[in-house]
Amino acid sequence: MTTTTAPATAVGAPLLDVRGVTMRFGGLTAVNDVSMTVNQGEIVGLIGPNGAGKTTFFNCLTGLYVPTEGSVSYQGKVLPPKPHLVTQAGVARTFQNIRLFGNMTVLENVLVGRHTRTKEGLFSAILRGPGYHRAEAASRQRAMELLEFTGLAAKAEHLARNLPYGEQRKLEIARALASDPGLLLLDEPTAGMNPQETNAAEELVFAIRDLGIAILVIEHDMKFIFNLCDRTAVLVQGQKIVEGDKETVQNDERVITAYLGAPLETATSTDEQAEDAT
Ligand SMILES: Nc1ncnc2c1ncn2[C@@H]1O[C@H](COP(=O)(O)OP(=O)(O)OP(=O)(O)O)[C@@H](O)[C@H]1O
Ligand SMILES: [Mg+2]
Repeated sequence: MTTTTAPATAVGAPLLDVRGVTMRFGGLTAVNDVSMTVNQGEIVGLIGPNGAGKTTFFNCLTGLYVPTEGSVSYQGKVLPPKPHLVTQAGVARTFQNIRLFGNMTVLENVLVGRHTRTKEGLFSAILRGPGYHRAEAASRQRAMELLEFTGLAAKAEHLARNLPYGEQRKLEIARALASDPGLLLLDEPTAGMNPQETNAAEELVFAIRDLGIAILVIEHDMKFIFNLCDRTAVLVQGQKIVEGDKETVQNDERVITAYLGAPLETATSTDEQAEDAT
């Protein structure tokens, strides 16, 4: 069995193809029959009020949850519902509630993200032969490149828990990139960031796209979403109610109603920090 090279996506076929995904928890339908695609080279947005099912949808895509119904394909193959196999297939993610190893260094956190792409196994690690040392040196070099790319290289030896919040979010992105994904899923990448950090995050997402990595991003910050995304889908009570470009989404009556009549530009959530602190 080969695990390294996935087949190239057929011309015109979507990179990610989600069909009729439903996720029920007992009597609650958190995600209701959602279909969606992400194409090569695209940045796609996913918005919706708190509790709309956005994170649950990501969890269905990444094998954390097995959807009650529906299928998720990447590069024309159904993704197995196991997080490590999804990562191995080329789909990486960050988490709304940051999941770093606080007592490990910034560099070590990125190295953890690298392990799905290294061939050196446990046996080799125990023996610590030349193969192990070569692989380790290559991994460290790649991890340092990613820290340069995300602007964290100067803090490589700092403990992750000592980084300011905005840098922890960037570190999550660096760790996700370490698995060499073709698709990156970002769950509220700017939550808790100040305006300068948010602008820098916008540049970073464009730079990631320019590396040839497609992006699906959840955010409450509408300015961020509409600056970045080629297409945006709106989830309300688990259902996708509309999908399209900025004008289509902003002028849709159902979207305006879902956000309680607030104009979209000002509908930025203020409670994500409180939520992330829990
Ligand atoms: N493991 C679970 N068990 C039961 N209910 C769940 C579970 N995970 C999520 N839910 C419920 O599913 C619904 C959708 O939650 P989800 O976290 O996906 O929303 P969200 O759109 O990401 O919201 P936010 O913008 O606040 O992050 C909520 O009602 C939530 O309570
Ligand atoms: Mg969420």
